[in-house]
Amino acid sequence: MNKGEQDVWHCFSQMREFYRNTPIILNRAEGHYFYDVKNKKYYDGVSTLLNASFGHNRSELMEAIYTQARKLDVTSLFNAGNDISQQYFDRLKLYLPPNLNKVFYTNSGSEAVETAYKICRQYHWLVGDEKRTKFISMKGAYHGSNLLANYITAASSINRGMEKIIDQELFFVVDIPDSYDETDATENELVVDRLHSLESMIIDQGPETFSSIILEVVQLSNGAYPLPKLFLEGVQNLCRKYGLLFIIDEIATGFGRTGSMFAFGTYDLKPDIITLGKAINNGLIPMGAVVVSEHIFNAFLGEKDEDKELLHGYTTSGHPIACAAALATLDLMENTSILECVNELGSNLKTSLMPLLNYEFVKCISGNGMMLALRFKPGYRVAMSEKWGISHILDSKLKQRGFLFYPDDEDTLIIAPPLTSSREEIVSLVDTVLSTIEILSKGVVRK
Ligand SMILES: Cc1ncc(COP(=O)(O)O)c(C=O)c1O
Repeated sequence: MNKGEQDVWHCFSQMREFYRNTPIILNRAEGHYFYDVKNKKYYDGVSTLLNASFGHNRSELMEAIYTQARKLDVTSLFNAGNDISQQYFDRLKLYLPPNLNKVFYTNSGSEAVETAYKICRQYHWLVGDEKRTKFISMKGAYHGSNLLANYITAASSINRGMEKIIDQELFFVVDIPDSYDETDATENELVVDRLHSLESMIIDQGPETFSSIILEVVQLSNGAYPLPKLFLEGVQNLCRKYGLLFIIDEIATGFGRTGSMFAFGTYDLKPDIITLGKAINNGLIPMGAVVVSEHIFNAFLGEKDEDKELLHGYTTSGHPIACAAALATLDLMENTSILECVNELGSNLKTSLMPLLNYEFVKCISGNGMMLALRFKPGYRVAMSEKWGISHILDSKLKQRGFLFYPDDEDTLIIAPPLTSSREEIVSLVDTVLSTIEILSKGVVRK
């Protein structure tokens, strides 16, 4: 490895271990495959990080980017509009409920979540509900890694060393009905219990002090766990009952990943705000978006001296090339009828992985559509490598065999292949995962 390659600080990584383990350094990509600097080929089994849903180097997307770059390369929503940012949203709106008809563009998912939060706080302030400052999120959630997004992300370790930067008293993380938890209760009993606790907490704290609730319909970082329908609808009802805004984070699930355009679309859910990112433009140019209901947008309308405008934005919000790539991604979704394929491909993938449940150390295969997680029971390790969780060991073995996935924690491997994967690629993925786990199983011990 060149000395120069060791200066890039990686996300959520212990860099000493990272370089000790001879990392993969990628050099190019084509279709569903990456190639490293030594030209070794890897199947992109997690669509980069659930963003490159259509794989790499798609000519339709490259052409859209090039055409836009030659026409209007960069501009800023601070001082002018641009036609492509409106054109994109006009098309996106066709997939959204009519109330969700205003958009704020960001550069990432974390920024979308924080923008949503600021919009909620300022909305309540503008309508005279200044006391509504508290924010509720769900255990198991991940909403990003900027300061505020961190606080509403439920993994406790993510905030270590960052205490008191933001007033933690304003953030409440509530229990979800997780039917994979060790419990004898039925899913319905868990739902009733969790909704009851949530409502009691809102009442105890004072309903007039809460701004909003955010949740993911399928929690990617909680082992791709789909929250039960009744729970989702119950949370929505509590939002309506107590005047909280309801935010759905579709950053991981959006754009077909779980089998429908947006995960909330399969339920009777009417969020006030949704956050988007990742696959919005196939991950080609950093981009996120917050889509808000008109009644929220309208609260910010006024005369200049009323000081009602949203004081928020990024230099590259609504970047024309990012929006052109997003528009071309929508075209691609439609031209490939991708939504019709995802469920079938995803359910084949899930069913083919089911034999893994015969291993004592495999807990479940969770998720919907093409967003799955292989979850291992806590407390199991591979002998001689006890420092690492099974998912990390499995991931490194799979890398050796030319497959890239994402070990989200020590007991979870995320599998989220490109939505355009062929049946043959899915068969090869399944064969490789099954045979690698079979070999690994011989060394698995209970700690
Ligand atoms: C559900 C969800 N929300 C927010 C984010 C943060 O997005 P970004 O990494 O683009 O900031 C992620 C990223 O994984 C996510 O999965």
